[in-house]
Amino acid sequence: EMDHIGIIGAGSMGLNMSLLFADHDIRVSVFDVSGKNIDQLHDLLESDEKQRKFVTGYKELKDFMNSFKGEKTLLLSLTHGKPVDEVLSKLREYLKKGDTIIDGGNEWYLETERRQKEMKDIGVGYIGTGVSGGYQSARRGPSLSPGGDRVAYDKVKHLLEKIAARDGDAPCVDYVGVGGSGHYVKMVHNGIEQGMLSITSEAHEIMKSVLGFSHERIARTFTEWNSHGPLRNNFLVRICGEIAARKDDKDKFIVDVIEDRVVQDSDASEGTGVWTVKEAGERHVPCPTITSAHFLRTASAHRDDREKIHEQWKKIRDEPKQTIEAPERIVELLESAVHAGFLASFIQGMNLVAQASIDFGWKLHLPTILKVWRNGCIIEAEYINQVLSEAFADQSKGSEPLRHVATSPRIAQEINDSYSALRRIVLIALHQDAHVPALSASLEYFKYEASLHLPTAFMEAQLDYFGGHSYDLVSEDNLKIEKGHHHTEWKKP
Ligand code: 6PG
Repeated sequence: EMDHIGIIGAGSMGLNMSLLFADHDIRVSVFDVSGKNIDQLHDLLESDEKQRKFVTGYKELKDFMNSFKGEKTLLLSLTHGKPVDEVLSKLREYLKKGDTIIDGGNEWYLETERRQKEMKDIGVGYIGTGVSGGYQSARRGPSLSPGGDRVAYDKVKHLLEKIAARDGDAPCVDYVGVGGSGHYVKMVHNGIEQGMLSITSEAHEIMKSVLGFSHERIARTFTEWNSHGPLRNNFLVRICGEIAARKDDKDKFIVDVIEDRVVQDSDASEGTGVWTVKEAGERHVPCPTITSAHFLRTASAHRDDREKIHEQWKKIRDEPKQTIEAPERIVELLESAVHAGFLASFIQGMNLVAQASIDFGWKLHLPTILKVWRNGCIIEAEYINQVLSEAFADQSKGSEPLRHVATSPRIAQEINDSYSALRRIVLIALHQDAHVPALSASLEYFKYEASLHLPTAFMEAQLDYFGGHSYDLVSEDNLKIEKGHHHTEWKKP
C-alpha cells in the first residue's frame, strides 16, 4: 500500500514539504485553517500532473481526517505555541491509538514534552522535530532532528529518511533522543545560526567600512572563502556572496537600502533566539557569541531608541578613527577570525546541548547531531562539522557527552591556529569603531575559557566583603587549591 502522510499547515514550509513528499511517491493530504493557503496549493498543482496525483488539499478538517485509512501520520507545520494546541484539540476526536503526530515547527521543548504526555494518554505517538533549511530546503530536502518516543519514531522513520537532505548517500536525519530533545537541538541550531549571522554581518561591515571594499569585491571575497579553506561549503558564507553585490531594478545595491532593523516575528518576546538565551542561563553554560548576536539583533529592533541616543552620544559618533594598513593581509586574517567566531558559536551550542543532555539524562550522541547538520540546514559548515566530528568521535552511543566539548585536543588545534587572527581583527575593528559584538565576545570567550588568572578572584573578595560569600585559596604558584570556608572581615573597625 502507498505511503500516506497528512500535513497540517500549508504555509511556505508545509506547502513545499507536501510537494517534496509527492516527489517521493508519497500520498499527501493537506489541511490548513486558512482556505486561502489551500487555494494557493491547488493553483500550484494545476500545472503539475504528477503532483496532482499525489497531493490533495482540504479546507475541512473532517474531510482531511476521513482521507486516511488505518493508522495516521500527521505532520504539523505551524507557528509554535497556541496554534499547535488549538489544532491538537480539534484533532482529538479523530485521533486513534497508533497514530503518530510529528511537530515540525520550532517549539519550546517543554511544550513538546507536555504534548507528548497528553498524546501518550490516548495512545498517540508525538515526535518533535527540527526542520531546517528554510522554504527552499523544505522543497528540496531539509535537515531533520526528530526526538521523542523511539517506537513512534521508527514508524515514521522511512518517510523522513526519504525526504531529508543527503550527505553523500546518508540522509540528514536521525533519531536524536527522547522527550523534547529534537526540538531542543533545533533551538540550539538556531542559536548557533544567530551567532554565525552576526559574525558574517560583522565581517561584511569590516570589509565595507574598514577596508573600503566595493560591493563586488566583498561578494568575491565571500565566494572565495566558500570555495576552499575553513569556510568552504558553508551555507551562510555562500549566500553572503550572493547577497553582497545584488542590485535591485533601479540598479541600487540592495544591502545599501535595507533598514538595519531585525525583528523577531510579531511577538518579540518569543522564538528560538530568546529560548536559547534563556537556556544558556538556566544550564549555566556560557554562550557569549550566541547571546551577543541575539542582543545585537534585539537592539537593532528598537530603532526609535537608537535614533534618540544617536543624537546625544556625540563622543561615540565622532571619535576619530585610526587608519589601518594593507587590506590584502587583513582580509586573510578576517577569514580566520570568521572561522574562529563560527567555532565559538558551535562550541557554545554543543556545550549547551551536552549540558541539557546531562541535566535531563537524554544521552544525546553529538556525532549523530552533527550528521543531521551535515547538509540542508542553515548552519551547514563542512570544515567545522568535520573538526567537531573528529573531536567527538570517541563518544559512544548511550553515554552522556563530554560536558565541555572544547577540552578536546582537535578543537584546541583549531583555536591555536585562528586565535591571533581573531584578536587582530577585533583590535582593528575597535580602532575603527566597527561593530563586532559577536567577534569580540568570541575573543573574550576563548580568553576566559583558557585562563587560570581570571579577574574573578577580585570578584570573590568583593562578594565576601558585602555578602560573606567565603572563598577557596590557591597556592602562590597557582597550582594547588585549598577548599574551605575562608572569610575575611574586610571592613576595618
Ligand atoms: C532554519 C531556520 C528557521 C528559523 C528562522 C529564524 O533552520 O531553517 O533556523 O527555522 O526559524 O530562520 O528566524 P527567527 O529567528 O526570526 O525566528
